[in-house]
Amino acid sequence: MRDLRDIDTVGVVGAGTMGAGIAQVAATAGYDVLMRDVEAEFVEDAFDRIEDSLDRLVEKGEVDADDRGAILDRIVGTTDLADFSQTDFVVEAAVENMDVKRDVFAELDEEVPDGVPLATNTSTLSITTIAAATEREDRVVGLHFMNPVPVMKGVEVVVGEKTSDEAVDLAHDFAEDLGKETWESDDKPGFVTNRILMPWINEGIRAFDEGVASKEDIDKGMKLGTNVPMGPLELADHIGLDICLDASETLHEELGDRYKPAYLLKRKVDAGDLGKKTGKGFYEYDEDS
Ligand code: 3HC
Repeated sequence: MRDLRDIDTVGVVGAGTMGAGIAQVAATAGYDVLMRDVEAEFVEDAFDRIEDSLDRLVEKGEVDADDRGAILDRIVGTTDLADFSQTDFVVEAAVENMDVKRDVFAELDEEVPDGVPLATNTSTLSITTIAAATEREDRVVGLHFMNPVPVMKGVEVVVGEKTSDEAVDLAHDFAEDLGKETWESDDKPGFVTNRILMPWINEGIRAFDEGVASKEDIDKGMKLGTNVPMGPLELADHIGLDICLDASETLHEELGDRYKPAYLLKRKVDAGDLGKKTGKGFYEYDEDS
């Protein structure tokens, strides 16, 4: 049975917001990290985001200034999945599309040594269906990080139909070694978090669209009224409206009409207003925000 001591090098597939965050926290915990995306430009952008995030953490005193360089040096970028033959644990954070994830997992299964566990950061898709693209279904597990990864304390461990107890234990141990706390969910659409969060966000959007209150008052009401750090509209902008729509569509498909995405969410995504990352969602953002 594998344990944390067998993990020196962590492979991260996908260098978007989540992949970069995962690479950062793994390197901060002392692991060597191989971070892969399909284009070198995406990998470079990820390094820029990691540097920004480390600067903020250094400023807050959460990362020692002397460690900043060593953390960055532990992360190596690549566009080649064949390099993952050197990894001891893999976290996939590619786009939230089942066909893409199954292709990535089939390729990982070829490249990554047999005993190595493969985790997916999927937010709503079935771990069991992703695992079935491999010959190692017992070693495929969900490891659902929250955005922003360097700041959020929790990680959801998701147990597929064939995931072994050993893989589940290792997923908890690994996340805890990154300084996170974990909880466990069965492989049901949206798991614990997005099953409950996405209807909350969609209801906030519907309340705005139906004129219940201004967007500011909806967010203020939920923040002050229920003591959450962000209201539903600002949180949707923070997560990305495209990500919220993808997750909501999967939930709708799997669980029926009570999960129907809000009309205004679809309209915003069609218009390309995806939230903070495009400078406009429900709110407008400049470089500094
Ligand atoms: N790296 C390092 N530090 C960061 C950071 C990053 N990427 N982003 C924010 N921070 C730090 C800031 O330095 C600041 O530190 P301080 O409070 O100690 O000074 C702190 O986080 C707060 O940042 P800001 O002042 O810029 O902004 P806020 O006070 O509004 O906090 C927030 C930002 C941490 C994002 C907070 O609003 C929050 O916790 N929001 C809720 C986020 C949430 O719910 N995430 C989960 C979404 S669901 C998900 O990810 C699942 C997926 O499947 C959809």
